[in-house]
Amino acid sequence: MDAQEIRTAYLRLMAERGHVIIDRASLVPRDDPTTLFTGSGMQPLLPYLLGETHPAGTRLADVQPCVRAQDIEEVGDNRHTTFFEMLGNWSLGDYFKSEQIPMFWHFLVDVVGLDPERIYVSVFAGDDEHGIPRDDESADIWTDLFAQAGISCDRVDLITEEHGNDVGNRGARIAFYQDKNWWSRGGGPDAMLVGDPGGPDSEVFYFYPQVAHDTAHGRHPHQNSDGGQYLEIGNSVFMQYRRNPLPGSLGDGDGTHDAFSELPRRNVDYGGGLERIAAAALDSPDVFRISLLWPIVAELERLSDKSYDEHTHAMRIVTDHVRGAVFLAADGVTPSNKEAGYVMRRLLRRAIRFAAELGIENNVLTPMVDIVADLYADAYPEVPNRRETIANVLQKEERAFRRTLNKGLRELRHIAKEQRTITGDDFFTLNDTFGFPVELSTEEAQRQGLTLSVDWRAEFDDRRDEQRRRSQAATKLGVHD
Ligand code: ALA
Repeated sequence: MDAQEIRTAYLRLMAERGHVIIDRASLVPRDDPTTLFTGSGMQPLLPYLLGETHPAGTRLADVQPCVRAQDIEEVGDNRHTTFFEMLGNWSLGDYFKSEQIPMFWHFLVDVVGLDPERIYVSVFAGDDEHGIPRDDESADIWTDLFAQAGISCDRVDLITEEHGNDVGNRGARIAFYQDKNWWSRGGGPDAMLVGDPGGPDSEVFYFYPQVAHDTAHGRHPHQNSDGGQYLEIGNSVFMQYRRNPLPGSLGDGDGTHDAFSELPRRNVDYGGGLERIAAAALDSPDVFRISLLWPIVAELERLSDKSYDEHTHAMRIVTDHVRGAVFLAADGVTPSNKEAGYVMRRLLRRAIRFAAELGIENNVLTPMVDIVADLYADAYPEVPNRRETIANVLQKEERAFRRTLNKGLRELRHIAKEQRTITGDDFFTLNDTFGFPVELSTEEAQRQGLTLSVDWRAEFDDRRDEQRRRSQAATKLGVHD
């Protein structure tokens, strides 16, 4: 099955199992000041997970495009993308572990056709400090499913990623972790945003024996290692708790167990990475090989007359960033100097910078719009429908940045020749004169072997504030229009 078929098959299975398929939300949440982008399928469902009644019922599913801007600098490896599609299903006080885990297993093994021998899982180890019990129930359900496939399950307590890196899972199918197996928008139990729902989760990983474990990420491999052998493909959150603003509820009331209370109903929040499941179906550890990304890479190979195998890093960055920017433009975002627009600008300028490294000196973005629009036409007709607007937005940004890109890079090389340390003032000039987003110039400076001055960020902010003050004063005097 290719990625498009997996998406369709998922929604079909969910409908067969009594879920209402709901519309996806915009990539830019309209009424949520806490976050710039929709970064998970559950985000638009927050009020319902907290107890409100959903008009479509208690069994819901969708496929939600997501952007995780925090991953921008991770892009370039074989698995991270800033934009991805999340397969999602929710039980709002309806089914729980005993229905969710077998349903996900059925999807992976019987529908997508993944080899059960290659599936590994993780489960919540319990947290005494917060009074949350160990999730043996999920581990037992997994054990039964593996047993039906003739696979016996060892269990191992790893608790933290660091401990896992030291000792490895020694082949155990089920690994127990603490914070790693707790999901909320903010992270582990202590990192939850006040008022948010969260809970223990059970994650599924696909194992790639053909990949050598990278010891730069720890001595031994295990489910939550970044060593390259295990790819997380899905996560079922058993959402039972809400983070409280004040001490109270769960526990003994002495202030140690006061962070959480039970939600009015127990929910399931499942999220699966479409791209990663498609990569597993191809037996490829590289997500850029899937049917939704490879045509973009192939276009880059054509435009640059270079091969992916020799220019993997740059091609992954351009591919990911252009796809993300196309979706942002489809949802009405335009490049700017703040918030979502700034992230879009970073994506586009970084894509142009890396395209230049591939020798594409002109017009890389617009040919890509057609490729992306065609790839997503079935599932997201709004993308081809807005093709021209999207192409115009991207082309305008490319024209603006191209004019100064080479001059800016020359300036950086000049700085690297003259000095060993680069300051916030230099970054301000690169931003103001050459349009380099500050993160792009810090990245470039490091590539040139420059050290960043200790206070570069404060220096940069001071210069920017000073310029803002000056231009506001000038506006008041009528100097600018
Ligand atoms: N909301 C959960 C996640 O993003 C499913 O992993």
